[in-house]
Amino acid sequence: MHLLRSAHSYTEIVKRVALLGATGSIGRQAIEIVEAHPELELCAAASGSTPLDHVDAPLKQVGGDLTELLERAEPDVVLNGVVGFAGIHATLWALGNGVDLALANKESLVAGGELALAALATGGARVLPVDSEHSALFQCLEGRSGDQIDSLVLTASGGPFRGRSREELLDVSPEESLAHPTWSMGPKVTVDSATLANKGLELIEAHFLFGVPYEQIEVVIQPTSIVHSLARFRDGAAIAHLGYPDMRVPISYALTYPERAATTLPPLDLTTLRLEFEAPDLETFPMLALAREAGEKGGTYPCAYNAANEVAVAAFLAGRLPFLGIADLVADALARVDGAPAGDLEQLVDADRAARALADEGLAVA
Ligand SMILES: NC(=O)c1ccc[n+]([C@@H]2O[C@H](COP(=O)([O-])OP(=O)(O)OC[C@H]3O[C@@H](n4cnc5c(N)ncnc54)[C@H](OP(=O)(O)O)[C@@H]3O)[C@@H](O)[C@H]2O)c1
Repeated sequence: MHLLRSAHSYTEIVKRVALLGATGSIGRQAIEIVEAHPELELCAAASGSTPLDHVDAPLKQVGGDLTELLERAEPDVVLNGVVGFAGIHATLWALGNGVDLALANKESLVAGGELALAALATGGARVLPVDSEHSALFQCLEGRSGDQIDSLVLTASGGPFRGRSREELLDVSPEESLAHPTWSMGPKVTVDSATLANKGLELIEAHFLFGVPYEQIEVVIQPTSIVHSLARFRDGAAIAHLGYPDMRVPISYALTYPERAATTLPPLDLTTLRLEFEAPDLETFPMLALAREAGEKGGTYPCAYNAANEVAVAAFLAGRLPFLGIADLVADALARVDGAPAGDLEQLVDADRAARALADEGLAVA
């Protein structure tokens, strides 16, 4: 934080935001939020390869080492909206340097959860979840001690293929997978939603964010995506977070925390809401059970799950793997990795690389 020096006063406090993944779905919505709030300013923006001409930030970087950019930018908060394991360095940099982390890049926490916890302990930063489910849980749990919690319930829309059988998924196309019923998101997370890998990643993310054992984290389908998640407590009460499915709300919450600045979203029209719940179909969508298994095994199994899934989703989007092949490829890679814990980032990067190599091998024979 610093005081904004103006001709009139020193009163306005400005939060300097480093936005990583500025050209993506999260990044573009984050820019909208920053532009709407004078107390937020972009100090840096980064993308992987898309030019940043339209982004108004003093420091911009396309590709390259994100931690170098962060060192120069000296942000108050890093919004990590990068997709995939590529976001790991920025996540660990923020946590290790005591800089608040608004985390959309769930893959970094899934792959590097143990290292993230260690960095958090030394750096003293806050993690402000941007994933809508985890933002919801963060709010449901705020001010409550761990011993009061009975369980966490992550909600899932079920994606575009909810209710279908495996036979009906044999030849679904990338285009069909990208037609999400309730959320508008980047391609990788949209396919992850269709396979339920997204909920698998979120299960592991929730374990590391809230320190709750896997057996106390449930997943339930809530097709309209109005209930963003809920926490059950030991006295039988359950506290849920409701809202329209619009990522600007959790992005705004994380960036303006703890002020909870206003957004332009309309209030929920309660009279028109449909709030049915159903159990996930774990046989048709094996990615959720595979994530739970990888999370429970620990070590670098979650890293391998994520890495193999990234390879599989890219292959599916490129037309080189059928939809059901995604889970097969991930299951095969998980069966072949050693899963040994990573003591540092270098070892984690090695584990990621090894799992990708196994998934590539599996792809060659698929
Ligand atoms: N979209 C949502 O509503 C949503 C909701 C919850 C959580 N999330 C999570 O948020 C993250 C981003 O999702 P998204 O939907 O915004 O993805 P997206 O639309 O595909 O955008 C990804 C962003 O990451 C950038 N990027 C990729 N590799 C990079 C690298 N090596 N260095 C710097 N930037 C890099 C991309 O830049 P280029 O344009 O140059 O490729 C792009 O700006 C994912 O982890 C996702 O699971 C998203």
